[in-house]
Amino acid sequence: QSDLDQGIDYMFKIVLIGDSGVGKSQLLARFARNEFNSKSKATIGVEFQTKTVLMDHKVVRAQIWDTAGQERYQAVTTAYYRGAIGALLVYDITKHDTFDHVERWLEELRMHSDKNILVMLVGNKCDLGSLRAVPVEEAKELAQRQGLFFMETSALDSTNVEPAFLGLLSQIY
Ligand code: GTP
Ligand code: MG
Repeated sequence: QSDLDQGIDYMFKIVLIGDSGVGKSQLLARFARNEFNSKSKATIGVEFQTKTVLMDHKVVRAQIWDTAGQERYQAVTTAYYRGAIGALLVYDITKHDTFDHVERWLEELRMHSDKNILVMLVGNKCDLGSLRAVPVEEAKELAQRQGLFFMETSALDSTNVEPAFLGLLSQIY
């Protein structure tokens, strides 16, 4: 049975990228299942989840792929990015080095995916404001320069998680 037979109008593949520990898997758990695990283990290999949403009277199914940010697992590439039309590029607002690596992730993304891929830059863990190491303005400036959408999120308290995923989907759609 095809997706269309099941009433799915569109199927979009989205990939999650960014350094290890920034919260990619927990953002996905929050969006797909409204769950959060404070003892989340580093992802090994590739996982994906689907979430079906109604947009403009159309049934849109997002297939969201998640992989390890750890360098020793970064052999995934081609298959991981194939067919993706959107990406969430995640850093941790309390760890400036994860923000410093954003442009490296962009290069990798643009090397392996369609050049028109839409990217949402996501500053996660905004619940930890007292530990902030990346000013909002710095991230906005990078997003503007690189042509990315931008949002700060918290997988822990749910801030902006739906807007980040749905904002990207609505731009695609
Ligand atoms: P890799 O799979 O190794 O690439 O890491 P990841 O990006 O998937 O990180 P993961 O989602 O496993 O989260 C890493 C740690 O950060 C876990 O202890 C999470 O509970 C925690 N975490 C994730 N999101 C948030 C958040 O929004 N706020 C806070 N305070 N902690 C978070
Ligand atoms: Mg993970």
